[in-house]
Amino acid sequence: MTPPVPAIRALGLTKHYGDGEARVSALAGVDVEFMRGRFTAIMGPSGSGKSTLMHVLAGLDTASAGSVLLGETDLTRLGDTELTILRRERIGFVFQAFNLLPVLTARENMLLPMTLAGQRPDPEWLDDVVERLGLRDRLAHLPHELSGGQQQRVAVARALLPRPAVIFADEPTGNLDSHSGEQVLGLLRSSVRETGQTVVMVTHDPVAASYADRVVLLADGLLAGEVHDPTPDSVLAAMRGLGVAAVAR
Ligand SMILES: Nc1ncnc2c1ncn2[C@@H]1O[C@H](COP(=O)(O)OP(=O)(O)OP(=O)(O)O)[C@@H](O)[C@H]1O
Ligand SMILES: [Mg+2]
Repeated sequence: MTPPVPAIRALGLTKHYGDGEARVSALAGVDVEFMRGRFTAIMGPSGSGKSTLMHVLAGLDTASAGSVLLGETDLTRLGDTELTILRRERIGFVFQAFNLLPVLTARENMLLPMTLAGQRPDPEWLDDVVERLGLRDRLAHLPHELSGGQQQRVAVARALLPRPAVIFADEPTGNLDSHSGEQVLGLLRSSVRETGQTVVMVTHDPVAASYADRVVLLADGLLAGEVHDPTPDSVLAAMRGLGVAAVAR
């Protein structure tokens, strides 16, 4: 195996919201690396800064201090236009709420980011992603004609198609039953194993986290530990170590 190279890094990443007495510190100086071709889960109590970390890493929100290096590019130094282009070309995002456009078919939704960028996917890659998606016969359907799990698989395919440097997924199985959740996690897992995609996923579920190669724990806006080659039990034990009760919802 080739030595691991970081796909994206946070250095001294700080984020606060508001000012004066209303000031909330969401990230208090996070240093973390996510290796290329690996699947990392981020876990931690509610309010620990998981979504903030993902949003700042993905260029969806600005940092208060510190830097985010995507390869050699420091996102915190880019202007709005450069950031928009970088996000479109090098970053994929999967949201808990799917965020598909209701008037577009599954196929149109999958292709939308590339269509907007005036690009077409390589036909073989499109075919491969559609195959992995397991929804070849549903491509002409509208989102409301698909189950939640099918919609989320379309959202994962939409993120995969431009072959981004990193896919961020914020609780992608949070709205799904366990079977649909397994299918979405399997799709993320196979994209990492078979095509070397880099994936960073926030989850509250130790079973979902066990699909990852590594779990990073956050508490109060700081890194609070890591678990390598996680199992549901080792993740649960690490979460308990943070003093998080009732994590296995
Ligand atoms: N737009 C905002 N304005 C003010 N405070 C915010 C904003 N977004 C997040 N925060 C605060 O920042 C802290 C971290 O929030 P964040 O959403 O990153 O947590 P989280 O770990 O994703 O939590 P959850 O597990 O509930 O999704 C919280 O205290 C939150 O209230
Ligand atoms: Mg969150």
